[in-house]
Amino acid sequence: MSQMKSQIESRAAALLRASRAMVRGAGQLAGQTTPPMGSVRFGSLRRTTPIAGSFGYGRGGTRIGRHYVNQFIQAHADDIHGRVLEIGDNHVTKTFGGDRVTQSDVLHAEAGNPQATVVGDLATGEGVPAGVYDCIVLTQVVQCVYDIRAAIKHTCAALKPGGVVLMTTLGLGQISRYDADRWGDYWRLSAQAAGRLFGEHLPDDAVEVQTYGNVLTATAFLHGLSLEELTEPEVDTHDPDYPIIVATRAQKPMDL
Ligand SMILES: C[S@@+](CC[C@H](N)C(=O)[O-])C[C@H]1O[C@@H](n2cnc3c(N)ncnc32)[C@H](O)[C@@H]1O
Repeated sequence: MSQMKSQIESRAAALLRASRAMVRGAGQLAGQTTPPMGSVRFGSLRRTTPIAGSFGYGRGGTRIGRHYVNQFIQAHADDIHGRVLEIGDNHVTKTFGGDRVTQSDVLHAEAGNPQATVVGDLATGEGVPAGVYDCIVLTQVVQCVYDIRAAIKHTCAALKPGGVVLMTTLGLGQISRYDADRWGDYWRLSAQAAGRLFGEHLPDDAVEVQTYGNVLTATAFLHGLSLEELTEPEVDTHDPDYPIIVATRAQKPMDL
């Protein structure tokens, strides 16, 4: 009888432990548990240098920031059609625009790059054609332009009536030393700032801003960890107060 009692007790204890673990897991995903001060276990994160620098290039996995950029572009892939401008290269245009694209322009700020079909400076507007693009792919560029307001102004000016700009930039993230040493790495943008920057040139209802990331993916991103090191629900949870990527779709009205 006492053996049976102790079996029941230990089974009950196991069930309790399992259900506590489940609650803890769900709570952690929703960010609902707050360990008391002094009881946080930092584990591998207790260090003052990143686990993998340079955004984890060379680690072999999928970069978290680029995953979010691609998710946004994929969701708006139909906008990539007709005459399309991209900065630096035309990787996004080719990958997501396919045969909807009739002319793929690549802009470089300085002359001499063999890939460039347009030599133009988004900050000054010099060399940037006005009113000709159905779509401008502006991925991970504006954080590198000191005069960001001017860059958005010249981007909007380059759109045809009805044309769309798909812009992504960092909300949170380390400095890109590669960019900083070349053209600069100046800004991390809030969703609010993105909305206002485009709102200076386009009506409010023509501008949609969304954010990607949460405190866990932002921490992983800062350490250069890969997408594959997180679970799908962790990656797909988006907390507007912890945006890795701030993404904007802005469309020039037909009558502007
Ligand atoms: C981080 S790279 C992004 C490249 C690419 N669009 C991507 O998605 O990875 C930043 C790009 O901004 C360009 N850039 C920096 N300042 C610029 C300016 N004033 N006008 C035009 N392009 C500029 C750089 O030449 C570089 O190609």
